[in-house]
Amino acid sequence: MTPVLSVRGLEKRFGAVVAADALNLDIAAGKKVSLIGANGAGKTTFVNLVTGYLEPDSGSIELDGQDIASRSPRSVARLGISRSFQIPQLFVELTAAENLSVAVSGARSRGLSFHSPAEADGRRQKTIELLERFGLDGLADRPIAELAGGIRKLIDIAMALVRRPKLLLLDEPTSGVSAEEKYAMMDRVIHAVAPDAATIVFVEHDMDIVSRYADRVVAFYQGRILADGLPSEVLKDVEVRRYVTGGAQ
Ligand SMILES: Nc1ncnc2c1ncn2[C@@H]1O[C@H](COP(=O)(O)OP(=O)(O)OP(=O)(O)O)[C@@H](O)[C@H]1O
Ligand SMILES: [Mg+2]
Repeated sequence: MTPVLSVRGLEKRFGAVVAADALNLDIAAGKKVSLIGANGAGKTTFVNLVTGYLEPDSGSIELDGQDIASRSPRSVARLGISRSFQIPQLFVELTAAENLSVAVSGARSRGLSFHSPAEADGRRQKTIELLERFGLDGLADRPIAELAGGIRKLIDIAMALVRRPKLLLLDEPTSGVSAEEKYAMMDRVIHAVAPDAATIVFVEHDMDIVSRYADRVVAFYQGRILADGLPSEVLKDVEVRRYVTGGAQ
């Protein structure tokens, strides 16, 4: 079966830093794949390349067999890949519902459009439905500035679901929440995204979360893939313990 995502020879340099070093990676439909690696290993760079936020120096990126390398983030999103951010990109002075509403109207509009009251109602309904899935409908009319970091992360993920992506990339969905809250947060995320995004790639630093939620783990080191396989195998790997998990696993 064609993988949802197929990356070949993907390269990205920032001056002397090789942030993506001839990466080859296939992601099969329906899998939950965790990207791990120390700070600066290239995880976010990979997410940025796949979602059009960075242009590769060379290499190919295919979604369902179609080349998407060097397309704009908007074009990549239209084709079916969405992402959340390590630091959520929200309008802090707007409410949760207003932020989602901006995403909904962006996904629906085709260039210039005029929004009727009926369209506004439809947007509000879609917005509330998405917030409900994350258990956040009670916070719909609260400004982002008043909401905690973990809640902002969830709203950012909800925004990524607006286009019902084939592939969802989550950059550190549980960062910034306490160790005790991480499982509840990840349970909420997995439950909420399930109806829309069957294939999930998530960047994660907490190896307990990785073991619990990933079908497969890809370990990055200096822009390269150090190990790739089942969590039980990758987390035991000698090089992964040396360069990624610091022997903690
Ligand atoms: N826009 C940029 N300009 C210059 N250097 C960059 C840029 N983006 C990333 N880098 C560099 O590329 C390397 C990989 O960074 P990246 O953000 O992908 O790491 P990461 O694995 O996501 O780390 P973290 O766990 O800290 O988020 C680092 O050395 C980083 O400093
Ligand atoms: Mg990162």
